[in-house]
Amino acid sequence: MRKSFVAGNWKMNTTAQEALNLARGVAAGLGGVACDVAVCPPFVYLDAVARTLKGGPLAVGGQNMYFEGKGAFTGEISAAMLKDVGCRYVILGHSERRHIFGEQDALINAKVKAALAAGLDPILCVGETLSERDGNQTLGVVERQTREGLQGVAADALPRVTLAYEPVWAIGTGRNATPAQAQEVHAEIRKVLAALYGRNAADAVRIQYGGSVKPENASEILAQPDVDGALVGGAALKADSFLAIVKAAK
Ligand code: 13P
Repeated sequence: MRKSFVAGNWKMNTTAQEALNLARGVAAGLGGVACDVAVCPPFVYLDAVARTLKGGPLAVGGQNMYFEGKGAFTGEISAAMLKDVGCRYVILGHSERRHIFGEQDALINAKVKAALAAGLDPILCVGETLSERDGNQTLGVVERQTREGLQGVAADALPRVTLAYEPVWAIGTGRNATPAQAQEVHAEIRKVLAALYGRNAADAVRIQYGGSVKPENASEILAQPDVDGALVGGAALKADSFLAIVKAAK
């Protein structure tokens, strides 16, 4: 039985004070929650947020990182730095990284391996654009992103990897995939994982859905058999709406 995992991706939002207030507000509402929960603030607030949450059940993640260990990479952050300030997770290959910043599967794969080597648990994001969906390429795109993102990841590291299916056309648009659309793609991702690592290993991997998840639609999506949690953007910026989604997780 997979334990659900809900993460809030704050993207490029909040001030320092807002970040602390939001993190504390979420932590305060987690009593009795059985699933894993994380918040992913902007880099500059990670240290303060992680300090404030230290010892509690609410984990912290980065939104990105670079794969090199250290050196002349102006503007970049390493896996070791994220670990050093108390991160457990890191989001990699988010569609905004892929489509705004031009990240490709090979780079994302290098990041996944560097995160695992540094002791961070990656959340590997995959998902098709609207034109790919309209062109019936969804399953092929998601298969490629999953296979290439995990290239060279050993079977013993797989349980530390979370996949996140985020259809690009559903992110920040208010349009979300129907529960059936989400389930279809999640099942496909699990099929790809089974082909790579075997059925038992695939059955243990958590696959989050992301894209306009809100308190109003969370229960329906999270009830799908292969949906094991959510990666939440806009609705993660208010403690009460994020907590309502957390409570909808099975
Ligand atoms: P929204 O929930 O704002 O659509 O964002 C989803 C997302 O990109 C989470 O990583």
